[in-house]
Amino acid sequence: MTATVSSTGIDSVLNETRTFPPRRAAELGMPRWHIASPEEYHALHRRSIEDPEGFWGGIAQELHWFKPWKKVLAWNPPDAKWFDGAKTNLCYNCVDRQVIQGHGDDVAILWEGEPMPGGEPEVRRLTYKYLQQQTARLANALKSLGVKKGDVVTVYMGMVPELAIAMLACARIGAAHSIIFGGFSAQAIVDRVQDAKSNVIITADGAWRRGSIVPLKANVDAACADLQKANAPVDHVIVLRRCGNEVAWHPERDKWLGDLLADAPDHCPCEHMDAEDMLFLLYTSGSTGKPKGVLHTTGGYMVYTYLTSKYVFNLIPDCGQVLWCTADIGWVTGHSYIVYGILPNRVTSFMYEGAPNQPDPARFWDIIERHKITQFYTAPTAIRAFMKWGDQHVAKHDLSSLQVLGSVGEPINPEAWMWYHRMIGREKCPIVDTWWQTETGGQMITPLPGVTATKPGSCTLPFFGVDAAILDEQGNEQPHNTGGLLAIRKPWPSMLRGIYGDRQRYIDTYWSTFKVKGNKPANCPSPYYLAGDSSRRDADGYFWIMGRVDDVINVAGHRLGTMEVESALVAHDAVVEAAVVGMPHEIKGTGIAAFVTLAPTHQPTDEKASDKLKESLRAHVSQEIGAIAKPDMIRFTDALPKTRSGKIMRRLLRSIAAGDTSVTQDTTTLEDLSVLAKLQENDES
Ligand code: PRX
Repeated sequence: MTATVSSTGIDSVLNETRTFPPRRAAELGMPRWHIASPEEYHALHRRSIEDPEGFWGGIAQELHWFKPWKKVLAWNPPDAKWFDGAKTNLCYNCVDRQVIQGHGDDVAILWEGEPMPGGEPEVRRLTYKYLQQQTARLANALKSLGVKKGDVVTVYMGMVPELAIAMLACARIGAAHSIIFGGFSAQAIVDRVQDAKSNVIITADGAWRRGSIVPLKANVDAACADLQKANAPVDHVIVLRRCGNEVAWHPERDKWLGDLLADAPDHCPCEHMDAEDMLFLLYTSGSTGKPKGVLHTTGGYMVYTYLTSKYVFNLIPDCGQVLWCTADIGWVTGHSYIVYGILPNRVTSFMYEGAPNQPDPARFWDIIERHKITQFYTAPTAIRAFMKWGDQHVAKHDLSSLQVLGSVGEPINPEAWMWYHRMIGREKCPIVDTWWQTETGGQMITPLPGVTATKPGSCTLPFFGVDAAILDEQGNEQPHNTGGLLAIRKPWPSMLRGIYGDRQRYIDTYWSTFKVKGNKPANCPSPYYLAGDSSRRDADGYFWIMGRVDDVINVAGHRLGTMEVESALVAHDAVVEAAVVGMPHEIKGTGIAAFVTLAPTHQPTDEKASDKLKESLRAHVSQEIGAIAKPDMIRFTDALPKTRSGKIMRRLLRSIAAGDTSVTQDTTTLEDLSVLAKLQENDES
């Protein structure tokens, strides 16, 4: 399912005709579906588009506000203000509100650690009451270190409950968090800490991953040393003791989390936050330059993630629901659908620390059976890995607790969809294939269980308030089944409010493509949000996402800028120039192919030396960015195909990486045709 952009539009190569009608809620052990019929969906959707203020103002009443808003929406493209003038606190809505309403003893977070060979699984049940106390303690501890409203706290941890506590504690006192995925390297920490001007890091000694310890504290130490040299010192590093591994200690800077919590009072009032106050930064890849700090604010994000959680997963309190979103909290999926959208719905959010195949490939199914998981939300790359590991691991477990299955992160191929439906969903559970992005904050195009008939590979229809369309580059709507650019034509509550510290990049990246006539404020070329994805819409109005249109690749459901991997490669002594593109990959969906030009002094003399150098380049990228960015294929080449103006022609490299030896695309702008011929001749990897 790839998209190729040419002057004639975007070609779609998928033709899937199967349809699966919704099932009755009772068949899945649920009292009801929140939205009962397609008619109700269409009527509500229409209303949400025609009267967004009435719609969202009504929904927001389901949550707690210290002070009501003056206006639901003020839209001055590309700047939206939602619930302007209102005061609220997201930690209060996740935690305190549940305690105050008498549900303090309900389990908010159910957690399972990874280690288990030979032993019992390590399980923790964190009630809403306990969560309230712990977030209050950590909030007080942060305050005692001088953290205040508006500061940015960096969090770099494994999947432990303290990660959720850290984010909630920040929200409680109005500090923004910037969570860095625990699989990223020291360099990634340096870039993000510096960009966010953060001087407090919360981390752990280590994190368990497939039986080994990821040295989180050591990575933070290395990052802090670099930051010190760069004149951006980190004042405080708070360390959770999780794995018990030895760590270096800087007494003037480092503090054990356990000590801080033990000393801090367990009462801390929630800061009254403006609806438009910053809630968090989350760094994501762009097509050029450094990662961008996507900025989300409080009120709109809270309302939107609450409502999507409720309707997309059909959450109903007091029905024994346990939702498991398998993403790491370091990605937006974990922010929105492990913590912020789920807890205000007062169901249990399940968190797992480790790898899906530790100690064996049945771990996930074992977890679902033991914890009676009802909502299971994962990524296509994981589903493909499960398929490869074999049905026998699934078959020996009872998965009958499952009610709704979800998919996110990349287009799900119909084969994986069918396997998910048959093997995990017992041909009963609705599959919600949810399209969204770090920037959108919450799910945007998605089936609603019990309402939307699903088609394998389609994320189906827009959620309430989402005016999604397929446009050509002039902003005209494309006819059915014609590929184009996926755009959102109206603001929605959880949209990003900017890129931290880079206003121009915000405008250029998301708001500059369309020259829309009318309603065009002087400071913004277009009031339409451009997602950077290509898509088509079928005759039923269903969306089929075809992939990214820019130089960003989506590996195993995570966006990586080719530019970042290229910079890492070029930083290696042996490399003069590098171009990175996506290529088809059986498990990851998209793998990374790197075309590398070597310095004359580093030319390998034989195949063995060549392999060794490739391995060293892979290790180097892993060191610079993280294992996730390691190229799957490296090809040495004397030159890269370039345009006359010197731009690398990545689309040609994409075809070559896909094994296509007879590139038939337009090569008229290519400066030196012999470069292409050489690359085509030589298809070793
Ligand atoms: O290309 C789309 C793809 O993932 C991109 C967003 O990546 P990120 O910001 O890392 O967030 C991932 C989790 C929300 C999108 O631009 N994508 C995400 N979900 C889907 C998808 N592509 C197709 N179908 C999906 N369900």
